[in-house]
Amino acid sequence: MEEAADNREQTQDPQTDESVEAGHAAENVTEEELNPICIEIRKLNLFYTKHVHALRDIHLDIPRNKVTAFIGPSGCGKSSLLRCLNRMNDLIDDCKIKGKIRIDGEDIYHKQVDVANLRRRVGMVFQKPNPFPKSIYDNVAYGLRIQGIGSRRILDEIVENALRLAALWDEVKDRMDANALELSGGQQQRLVIARTIAVQPEILLLDEPASSLDPISTLKIEELINDLREKYTILIVTHNMQQAARVSDYAAFMDMGNMIEFDSTDTLFTNPSEKQTEDYITGRYG
Ligand SMILES: Nc1ncnc2c1ncn2[C@@H]1O[C@H](COP(=O)(O)OP(=O)(O)OP(=O)(O)O)[C@@H](O)[C@H]1O
Ligand SMILES: [Mg+2]
Repeated sequence: MEEAADNREQTQDPQTDESVEAGHAAENVTEEELNPICIEIRKLNLFYTKHVHALRDIHLDIPRNKVTAFIGPSGCGKSSLLRCLNRMNDLIDDCKIKGKIRIDGEDIYHKQVDVANLRRRVGMVFQKPNPFPKSIYDNVAYGLRIQGIGSRRILDEIVENALRLAALWDEVKDRMDANALELSGGQQQRLVIARTIAVQPEILLLDEPASSLDPISTLKIEELINDLREKYTILIVTHNMQQAARVSDYAAFMDMGNMIEFDSTDTLFTNPSEKQTEDYITGRYG
């Protein structure tokens, strides 16, 4: 170990030839290897009014470009936690947050943070699809136009790509001017995902994205998560254990505002360390 540390110090010297070689080697290192943690959550507490203490001393490191599933009984704080990550809780009266959340090392609750930009970087999809009452095209182009992209050619290209990624393009390409509210629930959810990924977020928060969908639409959403996993850090809340096991790399079990256990999905589902987790995943909870 000591020898390795010595080598590293030497190659960091800007004067040596080795440092040039090391620099080239570093170009091949992915961000994931260099900075494996995307989101750091420290001593996070959340209160709704003085009476509801919804998150209690949450400490969690969320790995970059992986899928992390959040499971736990209704009311345990999963949605509250997700909403802290793009400051959606700012919109709720009487909601107080204490503790730190850093994304790529940056404190997202710092007063200088541009919240609109944070929400672009950290996209969120809710349980109930919420397309705007606009055309399919305008839904996906919405955030891009806000960013000032006016060129129809560029918009067309990004809209098509986002719809393809969201596995919706073939179903809507001939009716881009139709109102998004005419789509089925499963199509609306994929449209909302397309709208979210069109602005190229780094992080995707999916709060029970498939809970109101039929098995075929659910499968499409799961395939989509699979396709996106390499490029995005994905956090998904689900009540469906099989879904969590199928789509995620890591899993977090929460109960009554506490983070009970976080581990690789495989370990959490097959060999959990906490009895509470085991009781929950085997259905003996409560
Ligand atoms: N806007 C709010 N005002 C007051 N209390 C709230 C608010 N939103 C959530 N809560 C409370 O905070 C706690 C955590 O709620 P949260 O919605 O985060 O749970 P959840 O794990 O997402 O549950 P579910 O699985 O049912 O979606 C609950 O006790 C809930 O009643
Ligand atoms: Mg919820």
